Amino acid sequence: MGNVKLPLKRGFGKTDRRDDWWKGPTAMAAYLGFMIIYATWRGFMESDFLFFSDFGASSCENWDTARSFKDVSECQTMAIEQGSHVLSPLYSPLIFPQSSWIPKELWWMSPAMFILVFPAGFRATCYYYRKAYYRAFFQQPTGCAVSKPWNEYSGERGILVVQNLHRIFMYIAVIYLPILSYDFWLSVNFHDATGDYFGVSVGSLVLLLNVILLSGYVFGCHAFRHVVGGGSNDWTGSSINRFKYSMWKFSTKLNERHKDWALLSLFWVMFADFYIWICQDFGLTDYVILGGI
Ligand code: FES
Repeated sequence: MGNVKLPLKRGFGKTDRRDDWWKGPTAMAAYLGFMIIYATWRGFMESDFLFFSDFGASSCENWDTARSFKDVSECQTMAIEQGSHVLSPLYSPLIFPQSSWIPKELWWMSPAMFILVFPAGFRATCYYYRKAYYRAFFQQPTGCAVSKPWNEYSGERGILVVQNLHRIFMYIAVIYLPILSYDFWLSVNFHDATGDYFGVSVGSLVLLLNVILLSGYVFGCHAFRHVVGGGSNDWTGSSINRFKYSMWKFSTKLNERHKDWALLSLFWVMFADFYIWICQDFGLTDYVILGGI
């Protein structure tokens, strides 16, 4: 028996469906589109060319000698310095482009440009995001039982085999979690000439929630779940296997809501950056809730 073609209306967006099938993909396209534009703008903001140079290294009088959060954050928009350091997750880990180990040809770059490729690659190759943006941006498919503008779908072949890099990006994403946790630690360590003090600001809590949401996203990753739970037929034979089993159960629990972790963690990364940007650039105070100087 040959292929049976289902009776489907022809023409982009044509369908017999009566529900508001277009709302989900449209909202997703708006959400992801906004996040991509915002992250790109902020990633370029501290670079040192064209109109970005207003924010970039040459706008900072002490940039040549700056080698610390404090020196840099006095003239940049990526960290709040109010006795502690609240660094934007878009710029973490902070890399100074004007460092001696970086070729001078790259000194125009923004610190974010050195690191954003990894979280961006992780999200772009995520199984959930692939589903979301294939539909929202590429109409593959437009919707279930909805006619799409192109006839064929040949799978993730050709250039799309890069999606197989997801596991590699996952390993790198795991490394980011202790780095971002360290940023939170820095944000609760206040210091002045008289000594070091513990304190919690709104910025600290923003960074803490960022680490929690990103952890939920990374540890619920399909590739992570496979790494901790795959390749074993025995969950109980040894303490290692029992540990792997509990990790797999934990990852599975998170994986059930992977979409939510993916979307929420993305929003919060951008919000954390936005909060730090407006505090630093628009002179707002990062309110200290507890302790501090
Ligand atoms: S599948 Fe979504 S982060 Fe790995």
